[in-house]
Amino acid sequence: MTERRWSVDLTVKRNFATQGVVLLTLATCVVLGLLMSAAATAGPRPLAPLPKVKMPSKAKVEVGKLMFFEKRLSGDADRSCADCHIPEQGWAFPEPLSIGYPGTLHYRNAKTVLNARFAKYFYWDGRLDGGNDLPTQARDSMTDSHFMAADGRIMGQRMKQIPQYVKMFKKAYGKEPHFGVIIKALGDFEKTLVSRNVPLDKYLKGDKNALSAKAKQGLALFEGKAGCIQCHDGLMLSDGKPHATGVPVNPDIFEVKRYTTLRSQQMFLGTPNYYNLKQDPGFFATEKNSKFFGTFVTPSLREVSKTAPYMHNGVLPTLEAVVDFYNVGGIREATNKDPLIRPLGLSGSEKTALVEFLKSLAGDDLGYRTADYTADKMPPYELLKWVGKDN
Ligand code: HEC
Ligand code: HEC
Repeated sequence: MTERRWSVDLTVKRNFATQGVVLLTLATCVVLGLLMSAAATAGPRPLAPLPKVKMPSKAKVEVGKLMFFEKRLSGDADRSCADCHIPEQGWAFPEPLSIGYPGTLHYRNAKTVLNARFAKYFYWDGRLDGGNDLPTQARDSMTDSHFMAADGRIMGQRMKQIPQYVKMFKKAYGKEPHFGVIIKALGDFEKTLVSRNVPLDKYLKGDKNALSAKAKQGLALFEGKAGCIQCHDGLMLSDGKPHATGVPVNPDIFEVKRYTTLRSQQMFLGTPNYYNLKQDPGFFATEKNSKFFGTFVTPSLREVSKTAPYMHNGVLPTLEAVVDFYNVGGIREATNKDPLIRPLGLSGSEKTALVEFLKSLAGDDLGYRTADYTADKMPPYELLKWVGKDN
């Protein structure tokens, strides 16, 4: 009975109803099977153009922009976001390792804030959730003693001493400036820092002439022989996962000021043995599992041609150096090194093609000039006007 019901003998009893059920069941099994095997062996996601996104109101962006360039938002009123994320330098910092709060130096390369709203995680070690929570990231940058060392309540009070800001915040958010709304404004400004007119995006949307022949060859290598897409996939050309690639240690992190920052920050993150680290532990600090020691979350490659030097510690000065690095299979035999990093056997012209492709990921300059936001051009404190008012 059972056997008859489930056997697919199409030549004998042509009971169409049963046959239909059998076929439907078979089809369902096949589809489910395919879905499950796809999930089990999910390959890289295809590259995708940036989506159209909603921008905050002009009033919010205007005040958020000024906050981004505002040095008075740091403890000693001498560091703004834009000091380390310089518009003319791809909104990153042009040295291998970042500066820090005055008197300190940092031990990592400053990442770009371009397209941050699309990032899955923030920082090289992915220690913060990404783009849909830009204000929390801004809070972290402002309060971190190695970046801006700001006290939120004091920053709110300072901004209230600047009548133009009081007006602008009222207009944009219906509130006087306070810490919560300041970080919101920073996030709203960052939402507008999105690549425009990117050759790769135009190509992916169907404009076959948007990439040069050389860049197209580079794209084919990126997705094929060079295997870059295995980790640099999807919208941001990043899988959002940690990998060790064999980047050499930058000996400058042991310079006393930078090493002090490293120890101090790793202590705050709860990293075991933070006092004796011989290298940047990377994502290990986030996950505390030794299989992640020395791994870093795959960075986005959008705008990458504007943000030299490269890697978490800036040891690779140019895109050519990065491609050479991958071509030899990573320079260092690091612990936890990803097996995908292996010698690639790329010829000279293939290497040039890859570089050409990487250059096609940069869009138009957004038109901001640091010189327009120097301290003397920012709205002034007008303390006297407030005397006698309850503020
Ligand atoms: C003194 C230098 C400095 C200042 C000031 C600074 N940053 Fe950064 N920023 C860095 C460095 C260095 C990193 C990378 C740190 C890491 O990965 O551990 C970074 C990372 C970031 C990231 C993460 C990007 C990503 O995709 O992972 C964002 C977003 C960011 N900063 C925004 C800001 C904002 C907003 C401000 C101002 C409120 C600011 N930064 C102030 C140096 C600085
Ligand atoms: C196993 C995953 C993996 C593969 C495969 C891979 N990358 Fe990376 N890529 C990373 C990680 C992780 C980093 C950051 C490493 C670090 O800072 O220590 C990185 C960094 C980079 C950077 C520097 C970005 C910046 O802002 O500093 C570039 C450029 C880059 N990769 C290009 C490529 C190219 C081109 C290929 C193919 C030849 C490739 N990657 C293959 C994971 C990978």
